[in-house]
This record gives sequence, C-alpha cells and structure tokens, in this order.
Amino acid sequence: MKQVQIDELEACFRERPGEWLTGTELSRLWGVSRAAVWKQVRALEQRGFRFESAPRKGYRLLEEPDRIRLEELLPLLQTQMLGKAWKLLEQTGSTQNVAQEWVARGAKEGSIVLAEQQNSGRGRMGRGWLSPAGKGLYLSMILRPRVPMVMLPQITLLTAVALCRTMRQVAGIDAGIKWPNDILIGGRKVSGILLESSAEDERLRHVIAGVGIGVNLEERDYPEELRSVATSLRIESGAKLNRLTLLSAFLNEFERLYLGYHADGFAPIRALWEALSVTLNKEVTVYTPDGTAVRGIAVGLDELGALLVRRQDGQVERVLSGEIPMVGAAFTAN
Ligand code: BTN
Repeated sequence: MKQVQIDELEACFRERPGEWLTGTELSRLWGVSRAAVWKQVRALEQRGFRFESAPRKGYRLLEEPDRIRLEELLPLLQTQMLGKAWKLLEQTGSTQNVAQEWVARGAKEGSIVLAEQQNSGRGRMGRGWLSPAGKGLYLSMILRPRVPMVMLPQITLLTAVALCRTMRQVAGIDAGIKWPNDILIGGRKVSGILLESSAEDERLRHVIAGVGIGVNLEERDYPEELRSVATSLRIESGAKLNRLTLLSAFLNEFERLYLGYHADGFAPIRALWEALSVTLNKEVTVYTPDGTAVRGIAVGLDELGALLVRRQDGQVERVLSGEIPMVGAAFTAN
C-alpha cells in the first residue's frame, strides 16, 4: 500500500501555516487512505508537532517542535573548520557511535553529528545520558588535534571552558566547572563531556568530543533519582532557551579557544578553567581509574592539565583522570 512520507506531510503543513488541511485533500494529494494520513499526523505529534483537528475542517498546525535546521544554523557560524560537514539526525542510539563510523570513513576535522534525540546516549564511566527529543543538545565533534596523546586531558578542559563560558554568556547564569569536565549550576549538573580518541605513535589521530547539554528539560523530564543532581538551563533561568543561539555560540567559542590553543598552548586555557572551576580550593576525594582514592584540597592544574591535590601530609599529587562523585546520588541517566 502507498505510504505518506512523513517529511512531505511536515513540509506541507509548514508551507501553509495556520491553514486547515482536510484529510480528504491530503489523502487525494498522495493517493492514500485518510487513515494513512491520520497515522502520519499522529507520528508528527510524536515528534513534537501540535495540531488542532476538527470534523470537516481537517488539521491545522499550531506549534512546531524546536528543531535545529542547518539553513538557520549555518549563517550564525563564524567558524573556519568547525561545522563544515554535518550529520543532523532526528534520532539515533548515540551520536558518538555515528561519529566513530564517520571517522572510520575519513571524516574531516570539524565534522559534527547532532541528534534531536538519543535512545542510548552515553556518559562517562559507562553511564547513560538522558536525551529526550528537542529538549537538549546532543552532539559529537570530530577533531584531529595536532598534539601528543598525553595532552588529551587539555582538550577535555578546553571543551569545558567553551561550554561554561557559552552558558554564562547566553543564559546569563552562574555556571561553573567541576573537575574534570562537568558543568554545574547550583551544585547540579547541566552538561557533560565525553571524549573518545585514538592515537598512533603517541600522537592523537582523532578525538570525538561528545557534548550533552540540558537546555529546555523541565523537572518532570528527569526521573526521580536524577532530580537532586541534574538540572537544565530552563530550570535555572526560568525561561525556555533558543537552542540554535546556544549551539552556534558554543561552536564559535569552541573554535576560537581551539585555534588559540594550537597557537599559544595550554596556559591561557588553564587560567580560564581555574577561574571558572568550582572544584579548586575545596576538599575533594578523587577516584582514579585504577580504583585508588586521592583525598585532599584541589589546588590547581599542572601544565599538562592534571588536577593537583594537596594531601593532608602536605604532599601534592597529580591526578590525570578520575572522578569526583556528585554529592547526593550517583549520576546515571536513561
Ligand atoms: C558525562 O558527563 O558523563 C558525559 C555525557 C556526554 C553526553 C553526550 S550527548 C552527545 C554525545 N553522545 C553520547 O552518547 N554521549 C555524548
């Protein structure tokens, strides 16, 4: 049986905003039954469209979901390499996986995968990332930094700085960075970064920088167990945010810092990170990947990007990777 293509139906409504379209008219247009039209209207509602329907009048588009459209995004980008190639997906498992496949097929530096929804979004330490449709930003940036592998933590810190600065500028809120790369507002996490990479002869071959931002989620979008540890820009600012503005500002800021980093090294990023950090000068317990716990006061970053922790005995320990648990609950999503 013939099908109505959902994208064609969407285009049809978007081209005639506010107009009633009858089921009969639409079914004639595609040579399908009215039931088939009705099914696809329901499918559009699942994607966040809202319609008014009335007997004999048909359907009228009331509200479109907040969607990222390339034709609106590209004019806002002031970048030379970031966002020159895109995969914009309605939904996927994880944008990290799509980016990995793209890397294997030779994706250029600056290519980006963005999804409106992720069904198995991945977080650090094998956790998930809650990714409901149209409410957050879920993207993976493909980078080919020209630095040795030991400098990978610097790219993480740079990404956190770009995110934190963008949120402060665009949403006007007091966001801070929890080591190494969580963005917090008032003690709750609003954004996370997941870096995956490969190296050859001690040099980085590629990095996939995955970024998740809770933009317009409301309290009810979070499962009970996440409410004390997770938040969104909307919850914190009290207003719905334009995801396009936030995304373009982030990409512009990220590229500016990334190019600056290649030209001037890590020192300027380190200074910015330290100024935005909510971890420094606090008592912390860092759990490292080999299972040891380092306890003490976080006193700064070293030139490679390792966290410096001054233990009670006065010794300063360098921690290159690890995790400082969120207060309250283990952070898991999905
Ligand atoms: C964390 O804080 O644990 C990292 C979260 C990273 C989530 C982003 S969303 C886009 C990209 N795709 C994924 O599956 N994960 C990252």
